[in-house]
Amino acid sequence: MVKVISILGSTGSIGQSTLKVVRAFPDRFKVKLLAANRQREKLLQQAMEFEPDWVYITRDFDAIWLKNQIGSKKIRVIQGPDQLDRVVRRLRVDVTVAAIVGAAGLRPAMAAMEAGSNLALANKEAMVVAGRLMNQLAQEKDVAIIPVDSEHNAIHQCLRGADHHEVKRLILTASGGPFREFEGDFSAITPQQALKHPTWDMGRKISIDSATLMNKGLEVIEAHYLFGFSPNQIDIVIHPQSIVHSMVEYIDNSYICQLGATDMVHPIQYALTYPERTRNPFPSFDITKGAHLDFYKVDRSKFPCSQLAYDALLMAGNAPAVLNAANEIAVEAFLEERIKFTDIHRVNAASLEKMAHRKAQTLDELIALDEASRRYASNMVQKLG
Ligand SMILES: NC(=O)c1ccc[n+]([C@@H]2O[C@H](COP(=O)([O-])OP(=O)(O)OC[C@H]3O[C@@H](n4cnc5c(N)ncnc54)[C@H](OP(=O)(O)O)[C@@H]3O)[C@@H](O)[C@H]2O)c1
Repeated sequence: MVKVISILGSTGSIGQSTLKVVRAFPDRFKVKLLAANRQREKLLQQAMEFEPDWVYITRDFDAIWLKNQIGSKKIRVIQGPDQLDRVVRRLRVDVTVAAIVGAAGLRPAMAAMEAGSNLALANKEAMVVAGRLMNQLAQEKDVAIIPVDSEHNAIHQCLRGADHHEVKRLILTASGGPFREFEGDFSAITPQQALKHPTWDMGRKISIDSATLMNKGLEVIEAHYLFGFSPNQIDIVIHPQSIVHSMVEYIDNSYICQLGATDMVHPIQYALTYPERTRNPFPSFDITKGAHLDFYKVDRSKFPCSQLAYDALLMAGNAPAVLNAANEIAVEAFLEERIKFTDIHRVNAASLEKMAHRKAQTLDELIALDEASRRYASNMVQKLG
C-alpha cells in the first residue's frame, strides 16, 4: 500500500534524510506537501523531483519566485504560517513528518493531527511545549505519534510488547557532545567549536543543544510525555560512541537496548513504515567491527542545562514551555555571538524562575506564554550582551 506523506521542514537535516528514505522506496510513498522556511532553491529542487501537490515557504517573495520557477507543473505554492495551518488541516495524508525546528513547528504538527494524520515526530520542541495537548489530540483523533528522535525511537522499539508496570526506567543515551572531555574555559567556547558534533550531522540549533546537553534535557521532557513515565524513571547516560541509541531497564533488572548506525534514515524509516519493518538499502552497522561501548554518568556541574529539564518537569504548570522558549532565544543569541556559551544556562535558568508559574491551558495560551517567555529571555540577552 502506498503511504501518502507530508514533510514539514523538508529542507533541513531531518527533511532531507526523510527524502532519502522516500527515494529508496519510490513505490511505497507519495509526497503530498513539502514545507520550508528560507531555502527556496533546495525546496524547488525537491518539488521538481517529488512533485508534491503543495509546497509551502514562509515569505511571499519566495513564494512568487517558486511559482515562476515551477511554471506549468501542477504544484500549488502557499505562503505564510496561517495558510500552512489551513491547508494542512484539510489534507488527507497517512503520516506527517514534523521536522520544523523549534516551537514554530507546533501549530502545523497539531493541524496535521486534527486532519487525522499520524505524526513522525522529530520536532521535540513541540512535545516539550505542548505535550499534554498533543497527547489529548492524538487520543481524540485516534492518531499515533511515532518518535523520530533516535533516542525515543529506540525506546519505542525497546518498549514494544511491554506493560507499563514492567518498566523500571528509561535510559536516554547522550554522546556528550563536543565538550565531553573539555577542561578549559566554557565561557570562551565559540559557535564554530560548539557546532562540531562528534557523531551526528544535524541542524544548527540541535547541535548547540547537544553541546550544552540541553538537548538531552528536552529529550527527558519529550520522553515523559511520549511514554508516560515520571521524571525519576527517566535517566541520562553518556555513551560517546552513539551506538546504543537508548535503552529500557525492566523490573527484573534486564536491559533491552536498541543499537544501530548513526544515521537518521533508520529511525525515519521505522516511523514511516510503522508498524511494519522493511529491508532497506542503507549501510548497516557491523557489530564485529570494533563496537566498543562506554557508559558514564553525566557531570551536571559541567553541563547544568540537563538538570533544568528535571526542574521544569517537577514545577507545576507550563515550565517546560518556558524553558524551551528561553533556550531558543539563548541559542540564537549564542550563534550570533551576542552571548557566551555559559550564558545559555543563565538565560534558561532565570527565565524558568521568573516565568514558570504562569498558567496556560489551551494552545493559544501556550503560544502566548511562549511569546512572553521569549520577550523575557530576549531582555536578558540584551543585558548580558
Ligand atoms: N538533525 C537531526 O539529526 C535530529 C535528530 C533528532 C531530532 N531532531 C529534531 O528535528 C527538528 C529538525 O531538526 P533539523 O536538524 O532537521 O533542523 P534544521 O536542519 O535546522 O532544519 C529545520 C527545518 O525547518 C524549517 N523551518 C524552520 N522554521 C520554519 C518555519 N517557521 N516554517 C516552516 N519551516 C521552518 C527549515 O527551513 P529552511 O531550511 O528552508 O530555512 C528546515 O527545513 C528539530 O526539532 C530537532 O531537534 C533533529
